[in-house]
Amino acid sequence: MIKGKHIVIGVTGGIAIYKICSLVSRLSQNGADVHVVMTENAQKFVTPITFETLSKNRVVTDTFNREDPYEVDHISLAKLADVILVAPATANIIAKAANGIADDFLSTMLLAAKCRIAFSPAMNTNMLNAPATKRNIETLKKDGRILIDSASGMLACGDEGDGRLPEPSVLYEHLDYMLEDKDLEGKKVLVTAGPTVEKIDDVRYLTNRSTGKMGYAIAKAAATRGAEVTLVSGPTGLDCPLYVNRIDVTSARDMYEACMKAFEDADIVIKAAAVADYTPEEYREGKIKKAGDMDLHLVRTNDILKALGEKKKDGQILIGFAAEAADLEENAIGKLERKNLDAIAANDISRKDVGFGTEQNQITMFFRDGSRKAFDKAHKSDVADIILDEAIRLMK
Ligand code: CTP
Repeated sequence: MIKGKHIVIGVTGGIAIYKICSLVSRLSQNGADVHVVMTENAQKFVTPITFETLSKNRVVTDTFNREDPYEVDHISLAKLADVILVAPATANIIAKAANGIADDFLSTMLLAAKCRIAFSPAMNTNMLNAPATKRNIETLKKDGRILIDSASGMLACGDEGDGRLPEPSVLYEHLDYMLEDKDLEGKKVLVTAGPTVEKIDDVRYLTNRSTGKMGYAIAKAAATRGAEVTLVSGPTGLDCPLYVNRIDVTSARDMYEACMKAFEDADIVIKAAAVADYTPEEYREGKIKKAGDMDLHLVRTNDILKALGEKKKDGQILIGFAAEAADLEENAIGKLERKNLDAIAANDISRKDVGFGTEQNQITMFFRDGSRKAFDKAHKSDVADIILDEAIRLMK
């Protein structure tokens, strides 16, 4: 949870600084109290005014500046921080932090801080792979620091390789992860997401309008809260969330097999996928040529959730979704009972403002003991947390 948190970003001298501008902007817009510390070299790329405008806080640049608002600056900022991210982290700051050198504000503050600290290295591939940098990175890891893997691609120097600063959205996700309570630590969560695709031939297929956003939000929230997450996903085009193990599947049959395997040691299972109920009886290789009218014979797929409900052991929590265009309550409760679920999250798919393809959802949860809870319309990431909160409550 980013909102209300004190986040300190240490910015060192690298061209990737431009990405930190949008990171700081997004963090502040989402309610974080962001403080930026810039090294002298960082100020050659971007001026402090940029970060001051974006963060609405004074940027710290100098250990001995008496005009700064902090009593003993490096100590008070270190105490205030819930988390510190050094990005872009040059080879120089990595070397200094690994060896306890404190010769400017940032390095001094890093030594004084007790909160979680992450470094996001950004430099030329050869510098990153130099024995000294590798050694320093290992030292930081041993000291309990978090090292964010650099991305690969075109570097500022024209070389191709590792050493790029990850995109702001990835850094944001890391901060979110570092700040979240780990109330699902030690738990295994299985989530399904997206549509399934049932092939007719090599060119045509049957599918549905699910985008996978709800399931991905659940997988992401569970991983952020410390769970070991397996996400069985139909084709969606969405990026796999951080610390999630994704298994890509295509058809309902593939999803059934992947779920059966992963189910055995799962503590919580949440089935958000929109699984096809029917698949073509036969699949034809190549491309079917047109002739007269054509009949497409469809056969039933396995009901994965029902099969999991039959296998469910004591202590496993099984939650399904019910996408309903009418008679929401009756249909949802029917599915809850038929599929032996602990809870079902029902949503009204006739509404245009929530559900399929949108960023928001509005669910009513029905429980095995006959109770129900209707939740307000909310962003899918918040709905994901609501469902996980209920899963934890049911586990107790
Ligand atoms: N589901 C499943 N396997 C299927 C069909 C559905 O696991 N072959 C799961 C979905 O992932 C969801 C729940 O069952 O969690 C309900 O899906 P939904 O499409 O709403 O209902 P159906 O069971 O398919 O029933 P109906 O088509 O009659 O609404």
